[in-house]
Amino acid sequence: MTAPLASTTLSARIDAVLAEAFATAGLPVEGARAARASRPELADLQCNGALPLAKSQGQNPREIATAIAAALAGHPALDSVEVAGPGFINLRLSARFLADCATAQGSDPMMGLREVPRRMVIDFGGPNVAKPLHVGHLRSLVIGESLRRILAGLGHHVVSDVHLGDWGLQMGMLVAEIRRRWPELSCFATPPRPPASLPFDMADLTLLYPAAAAACREDPDRMAEARADTAALQSGEPGHRMLWSAMRALSLAAQTRDFATIGAHFDLLLGESDVQPLIPGMIEDLVERGIAIPSDGALIVEVAAETDARPMPPLLLAKSDGAALYATTDLATILERVQRFPDLAAIVYVVDQRQSLHFEQVFRAAARAGYAPGVTLTFAGFGTVNGPDGKPYKTRQGGVAQLADLLDEAIGKAAERLAPRADLDDDARARLARTIGIAAVKFADLSSYRTSGYVFDPERLVSFEGRTGPYVQYACVRIASILERAAAEGHAPGAIAVIEPAERALVLDAARLPDIVASAAANLAPNELADFVFGLAQSFSRFYADCPVLAAPDPDIRASRLALCALTRAVLVHGLDLLGIAVPDRM
Ligand code: ARG
Repeated sequence: MTAPLASTTLSARIDAVLAEAFATAGLPVEGARAARASRPELADLQCNGALPLAKSQGQNPREIATAIAAALAGHPALDSVEVAGPGFINLRLSARFLADCATAQGSDPMMGLREVPRRMVIDFGGPNVAKPLHVGHLRSLVIGESLRRILAGLGHHVVSDVHLGDWGLQMGMLVAEIRRRWPELSCFATPPRPPASLPFDMADLTLLYPAAAAACREDPDRMAEARADTAALQSGEPGHRMLWSAMRALSLAAQTRDFATIGAHFDLLLGESDVQPLIPGMIEDLVERGIAIPSDGALIVEVAAETDARPMPPLLLAKSDGAALYATTDLATILERVQRFPDLAAIVYVVDQRQSLHFEQVFRAAARAGYAPGVTLTFAGFGTVNGPDGKPYKTRQGGVAQLADLLDEAIGKAAERLAPRADLDDDARARLARTIGIAAVKFADLSSYRTSGYVFDPERLVSFEGRTGPYVQYACVRIASILERAAAEGHAPGAIAVIEPAERALVLDAARLPDIVASAAANLAPNELADFVFGLAQSFSRFYADCPVLAAPDPDIRASRLALCALTRAVLVHGLDLLGIAVPDRM
């Protein structure tokens, strides 16, 4: 979806060496690419580009590979080149070249990788007014924020928008419920005045909605009342507007605190309500052009295609009572974003997988209407957070878990783990438990593939061992303390020399960061980056076990290994930062 703008990454440099060799051998250069060697004991990298050329060149692949290997022979970046199997080219990189790459990466973990910048909107979070954030929002916030950082880190102009659910029937239900309980509120007076303060707080508000919804379910009169209030709000009744905006502000304030806890940043705090003024004109346009058609008193847009494997129902644009619908609002939001950002190239929606049909309908309707020419619309859906029973996670009381419950549980577990630590005062322990607990939740969420659900197990995810956020954080903290100790003893990092196999493995592994980030961006898959930082932390452990650092026999070797420590830390910290995970000073 994107093209690299500039890159001096290890893989780009080797690919350039391969391209030169392919050209020298008179071969097309498309296949001149190296990948990680499948057998690291035989090679660092391998190029399989000879195999697909056999047909067009009328030669057997081993002959082609041999010609490429001959052209590569003696290149200073390579120690050895060998043809293996049916025509694989195994490459062993020179220590000199590896040291060179590692040195460059020490000052820029991304090794200059930038993509041709594109304007992108990421739509994530999406909480509804008057409802607390629940575990479903956790995934949207965590994945969305990581994608925001990954894409921005590659040089894209990324705009995050929370797209609040602040319109529709639930708002009318609330107005009706509130008028019954507090009829004396100044917004219900004639003439209405904005309420100076509200008789309820966010906690009360979150209870009002289920109460209102239950009343409407049981009593058709209450439902009729809620519908009338929805219509009044949507037609701009001043008193209704006043109450609505007070409720919206109250719940947004609470939600903003949750965003800060999770570390999600929003450039825009827009919502469904913001695009309502565009809807009448949009509907008129769609009707005029015959794209929206009447059906049983409603207006629909046909979005089915002949090639559909599953039935694709039409998009419902307006009900017979003219009320705004979720899909109508999303379609208008595309229009609004295209108007707001004339250079818009993509919109990415990080929303529950169960809404995939909705987005497919909206995208197709936008395409039919020509509302987003040149804009790639992508649905990045995610699976559910499950409890140990494999069903969507519930609180111990059996209710839908709120985001705060989930975080508190993880922070509590981290605090238990830190309890025996005598070197921490209460305040430091509490702060550290928070950093670790939140990192643990985020890492667990990010390390499973987006569309698959995962089991939330607070005990396991705060562990310092295994595939966890705290394990990776701990690697960073440990490296920092090695570097501190070295500095205290008067030793500084110096020129890198790649000698031992564990050093080679570490440098090769760290150098993959830019490729992994580019791939995570292309696939909208932060789990690739989570896997990478975990693997690199493991590579570091092996290096540290095999290669004494402070106790290195030779001062040059010690200085080189200290530089490798600093490099690893820089790459890990950068990778974690792109995941939205902070590293504490000590653990
Ligand atoms: N408010 C919606 C919900 O809670 C999510 C919004 C997702 N974004 C969007 N553009 N529809 O289900």
